[in-house]
Amino acid sequence: MELRSITNVEVRGKRVLLRSGLNVPLAGGRVVDDFRLERATRTIDLLLSRGAKVILLAHIGRGGESLRPVMDALKMRMPNAPLKFFERGGLPTVDEVNTLREGELLMLDNVRKLRGEEENDEALARSLAALADIYVNDAFADSHRTHSSVVGVAKQLPSYAGLLVIEEIARLSRALAPEHPALAIFGGAKFETKEPLIKKLLPVYDRVCIGGAIVNDFFRAKGLSVGVSLTSEKSPELAELVLNPRIELPVDLVLATETSSRVAAPEDIRPDERTADAGPATGKKWSQYIEEAGFVLMNGPLGIYERGFNAETEALAHALVRSNAHAVVGGGDTIAALTKTNFDSERVFLSTGGGAMLEFLADGTLPGLEALK
Ligand code: 3PG
Repeated sequence: MELRSITNVEVRGKRVLLRSGLNVPLAGGRVVDDFRLERATRTIDLLLSRGAKVILLAHIGRGGESLRPVMDALKMRMPNAPLKFFERGGLPTVDEVNTLREGELLMLDNVRKLRGEEENDEALARSLAALADIYVNDAFADSHRTHSSVVGVAKQLPSYAGLLVIEEIARLSRALAPEHPALAIFGGAKFETKEPLIKKLLPVYDRVCIGGAIVNDFFRAKGLSVGVSLTSEKSPELAELVLNPRIELPVDLVLATETSSRVAAPEDIRPDERTADAGPATGKKWSQYIEEAGFVLMNGPLGIYERGFNAETEALAHALVRSNAHAVVGGGDTIAALTKTNFDSERVFLSTGGGAMLEFLADGTLPGLEALK
């Protein structure tokens, strides 16, 4: 996919509306994982160093959280940059924006607090566009959302892709024509978000391993009892997938109750147990696949991360570091497992996209990218 990049555009003195992907986890009013922030700073740096007047748009959370802690974290990363936060909330006036100097940045608060953002309201898109001369989308992680700050505004201004968006497209596209043996490993929850991609990859990938909560749907489709494990509300139609010889399920599991855990076979899940992680034999087997693979695609953890069941996801992360495979990895917890290692970023690409990565790979594009064309 060829998009116009901001790299060769003269931005000095221009007001640039930049949409970045800054939806980072917060705890106690602080940013606790700044992976996305770090990936966003390259385009911010580029624009500021070239004398643009930057108006920064982003969202955070789903409950009307403030971006203030993100601004504080950004200031720590860019201590010498003139970064301002628009304290009043809502949109600034054109006169307020015009007081920005070349190389200065004004961050607006959470765009999802603006009425009409999530409905892709045209009036909001026009109000945003009135503040700037150019629009740049660098929010790959949010480009699957048809929102005003992602799609609507791009239709109102000369629009370009930021450096991160360009890099994500190039690195992720490689997963669609992988070196062989090609291995995909899916974990996490929400089977419906992964189903289109799993189906698309099966004719191309040599093996597709399924772990995490989504494997419970597969066990159920095979007629196994899954105890109190998390399953999809509406049972997906998996009869064909479970019979596909390229699909591989864990051979052992960590099963947990509220007070205990043990390793057992998938056929042996008791009514009061839930699947909490893949078991060690599975971790070993799939690590071996990774070490032999030409390409690896990973999205979603094998275990319940928030309850500390991270052992086998981390085992796979270490196998990826040992291997020579090229890889793309996405999803917050899977990324966290990799960032604890000294992985080679030329070989292993960590995508900022969770849902956006899955949709981009399944559809070959995203609404926010189409809007830039
Ligand atoms: C993400 O965290 O995957 C993106 O920032 C999108 O956030 P959303 O799922 O709240 O739209």
